[in-house]
Amino acid sequence: MNQKNAQYNLKDKIAIVTGSAGGIGKAIAANLAANGAAVVISDVQVEKGQKTAQELGGNAIFVPCDVSDCEQVWSLVSTTVDRLGRLDVMVNNAGINSSRPEDRVTFDRYPDETWRKMIDVDLNGTFYCCKAAAQVMLEQKSGSIINISSVAGVVALRLQIGFVAAKAAILKITEAMACELGPKGLRINAVSPGSTLTEGTRKLFYGESGSFQEQAERVVSFIPQGRPGEAEEIADAVTFLASDAASYINGHNIVVDGGWTCGFNRDF
Ligand SMILES: NC(=O)c1ccc[n+]([C@@H]2O[C@H](COP(=O)([O-])OP(=O)(O)OC[C@H]3O[C@@H](n4cnc5c(N)ncnc54)[C@H](O)[C@@H]3O)[C@@H](O)[C@H]2O)c1
Repeated sequence: MNQKNAQYNLKDKIAIVTGSAGGIGKAIAANLAANGAAVVISDVQVEKGQKTAQELGGNAIFVPCDVSDCEQVWSLVSTTVDRLGRLDVMVNNAGINSSRPEDRVTFDRYPDETWRKMIDVDLNGTFYCCKAAAQVMLEQKSGSIINISSVAGVVALRLQIGFVAAKAAILKITEAMACELGPKGLRINAVSPGSTLTEGTRKLFYGESGSFQEQAERVVSFIPQGRPGEAEEIADAVTFLASDAASYINGHNIVVDGGWTCGFNRDF
């Protein structure tokens, strides 16, 4: 937990974070809990998710859910309301990408199966979660939904067409939902991480024996701040959006990328 993160009052708030067994989702859940929220850890990885909930202590429970299955999503939201009474914050963080060489190809050769999987988990999963959460929040006339997109949704990255499509669509549906639900007391925003340190990216990119270590060095050379982000730095933006400090922010996307996508970080 980042000691320097701002303190917000999320006391009595109930939050769900999808894909929070590890990585950025776990940092978000820990940050929300540290700011007073009761948090539902949710993930397809059951043992790891249970362990994370235990680590966070009394303010966290685990509810399993595959976000690409809309029945499981309804069950996640109804279980949360049954057990904790309401739903104030829905963080749609669960997501997949692929680093398999056969998936890192130009769009004309991009496997249909990878496209379908990416859309299913990253985009459909976000849609199902937003819809189920909104039903409860509309009754309450309040709630904050935060969708985790990516820099790939802001500027197109090569060789990741499924991921780019899903993450860009997440940003547009965030805006559409903000327009539709804003008048009814809900706020819907997005956070777009840049290259962020997690167990996964440490192993693949940033570790000493990472198979994409060269690529990681290239990526960092494009980032004005000259380093990857910490998961806690993404979590800080999410907690801010979840809190009343962001009470007039609706339909916005906070890009947390050290400046990677704000301009062309090269001299001519
Ligand atoms: N790490 C980065 O550099 C980075 C950059 C941009 C965007 N993001 C986004 O941030 C989010 C979290 O990424 P991360 O790096 O922590 O990834 P991660 O792989 O470390 O964690 C993702 C979690 O989601 C879970 N998950 C996968 N499929 C699921 C499903 N169908 N239903 C429920 N849970 C599922 C996984 O079990 C895992 O615990 C993702 O949406 C990702 O696209 C990450």
